[in-house]
Amino acid sequence: MKVFSIFIFCLFFFTIAMNSCFSQEKLSGQLNLMPWPKEIKSNKAKTILDRDFTISMNRKGSRVYKAATKFLRNLANKTGVFIDEGFPFYNREKATLSLVFKEEANLSFNTDESYKLVVNNNKIEITALTDVGIVRGLSTLLQLIKSDGSNFVFEGFYIKDAPRFKWRGLMIDVSRHFQPVDLIKRNLDAMAFVKMNVFHWHLSDDQGFRIESKIYPKLHELGSDGEYYTQEQIKDVVAYANNLGIRVIPEIDVPGHAAAILTAYPELGSDENFDNKIVRYSGVFDPTLNPTKPEVYTFLDNLFKEVAPLFPDEYFHIGGDENEGKHWDANPKIQKFKKKNGLKSNHDLQTYFNIKLEKILRKYGKKLVGWDEIRTPSMPKSAIIHSWRGKNEGFENGTLIPALKNGYHAILSNDYYIDRMLSVDHYYKCDPIANADLTKAEESRVLGGEVTMWSELVTPLTIDSRIWPRTAAIAERFWSPKHITNIENMRKRLKYVNHELERIGLTHIRNIDVILRNVSNNQDISSLKILAGISEPLKIYNRNEGGTEYKTFSPFTLFADACSADAPDAYEFKKAVSAYTLDGNINNKENVLSFLNSWETGYSEFRKLEKSPNLVGLELHYQKLAEVSHQIKIAIKREKFSKKDKDSIIDLLEELSTPFVDVEIVIIEPLKELSTCLNRRFDLK
Ligand code: ACM
Repeated sequence: MKVFSIFIFCLFFFTIAMNSCFSQEKLSGQLNLMPWPKEIKSNKAKTILDRDFTISMNRKGSRVYKAATKFLRNLANKTGVFIDEGFPFYNREKATLSLVFKEEANLSFNTDESYKLVVNNNKIEITALTDVGIVRGLSTLLQLIKSDGSNFVFEGFYIKDAPRFKWRGLMIDVSRHFQPVDLIKRNLDAMAFVKMNVFHWHLSDDQGFRIESKIYPKLHELGSDGEYYTQEQIKDVVAYANNLGIRVIPEIDVPGHAAAILTAYPELGSDENFDNKIVRYSGVFDPTLNPTKPEVYTFLDNLFKEVAPLFPDEYFHIGGDENEGKHWDANPKIQKFKKKNGLKSNHDLQTYFNIKLEKILRKYGKKLVGWDEIRTPSMPKSAIIHSWRGKNEGFENGTLIPALKNGYHAILSNDYYIDRMLSVDHYYKCDPIANADLTKAEESRVLGGEVTMWSELVTPLTIDSRIWPRTAAIAERFWSPKHITNIENMRKRLKYVNHELERIGLTHIRNIDVILRNVSNNQDISSLKILAGISEPLKIYNRNEGGTEYKTFSPFTLFADACSADAPDAYEFKKAVSAYTLDGNINNKENVLSFLNSWETGYSEFRKLEKSPNLVGLELHYQKLAEVSHQIKIAIKREKFSKKDKDSIIDLLEELSTPFVDVEIVIIEPLKELSTCLNRRFDLK
């Protein structure tokens, strides 16, 4: 009897779980929500958007007021509806949308971001404990709006939502390439659109120190080429983020990555004879603060005293990564200091430095976040370990799991290095916890993950296209339940979200045309767009191998800069080939032929362009692509394709697979698959 009851009990929960999975699959066919909510049910109601649409808040609160006003602008601009009331009301009974919350949150990783959203017939309600919950609910509601042919409508749903992880971050490196305030703000808007909540601002590195300092003005005067944020601009960005429910974690990377600081104040360095200069290349460099000098701590104390109040968050990121200690090893005074103080290794010396730094920051009300390297035995458990190396010590000294086991809170970035230019599918599959062997307590200390946008190869023109839309899919990984993993479904929703992100202010789609017009020297770009549709920039740092091909002021307006990490036509072509190889019916055949045709005619158009220096490098690969496309097209039409034909295509594909102008054509595999299939089908005819 007991076994039977357990069986029935399990069956009951299994059925509920399966129903919720199925309904996710079913509803996500109709909806383009990203991140997908924790619970969602359709209720068949609908609210039509018309000019009478109004919003009421149950209490005052500037975060909600601003978000609701922005929501109204977004609605009007998206739909073209002339909404009569442009601002929310307080406590108005008959509003279309009611926003009900109890508290205004001070942002921290414990802020409650949950909300409930119900769309009934001509009545919508969002309820939440905090104002941040309301902001998250408004992002969802904005994504729910649809056209029913004659009107824009909110279809009826009941949504109960809360994030899986507390830390859903995006880091932007503004040192390698400075990124202006407006750009940061539009990226904050995009983050809020997909419910991210931490902006990590990497403000200082070898290539630039980007904060105005009144007490050490040489920092921004000599360390930034004039490209820095004034203190007023920093406060403005922090306030802007705060309204969106986004925390700002600043980073001043020390003691390594300090070339810009030492350009301004060389006396703080470890090699007194070194000619410190702002670095123009990519890589890891030697200039390092001298941890044995009291003046270094006076400098850090004064600097943090000045800048800490600009950032209200309780955490400050101190970097701490990639200090190879070469200047420490070469300095006899530092060696002597180590001996005298019983510091056996450079890691011990860095620990000595970190302990002092932690005390300074504590004085100014800050706790530390730092990269893997700060995890040393004496680091207080209040510090957050930010893992750029990975989960396990066995692999590249990753410290996520060891840190959790030591009692630290930790965040993972290793899997989310979007500057490696991998496909969205790859990042989407990476889970911050995955199947790690953790106790409940250890698991609860995984705060979440952070996408890192290192900016060696991005400028304001291209950065949006490197961050988005892949980061929207990663945001879903950080927010949605673990079982939301269907790639095809994510891709479908991302296509829509991608356009919405541009609509709310990003420039990642339109700037492709800007770059291609430049590449073509202001000629027709349609043939270049066709080639860009199947080309991707070289991945995993193969572009700029060794760090010296590009300097910080090199051009990033090249063909590679117009190509994205997920070539859009490549994905569609792969699907078309899979369908055709399974079933060569007329539709599948036409689909494949239309791609092949576009590459062949694309090349004919390309050849009509006037010669221009930046087109030269594209010629050879485009010509081979056209040749392969032509031969395969003829084979499909004539239904003849011998082993010899196939071998000749495979040889051409080998040539086509070589990198050119820092990109690679990414349809080689489906073309091989197609050739093999054609040979199997048509060899004997
Ligand atoms: C890092 O990538 N060095 C944090």
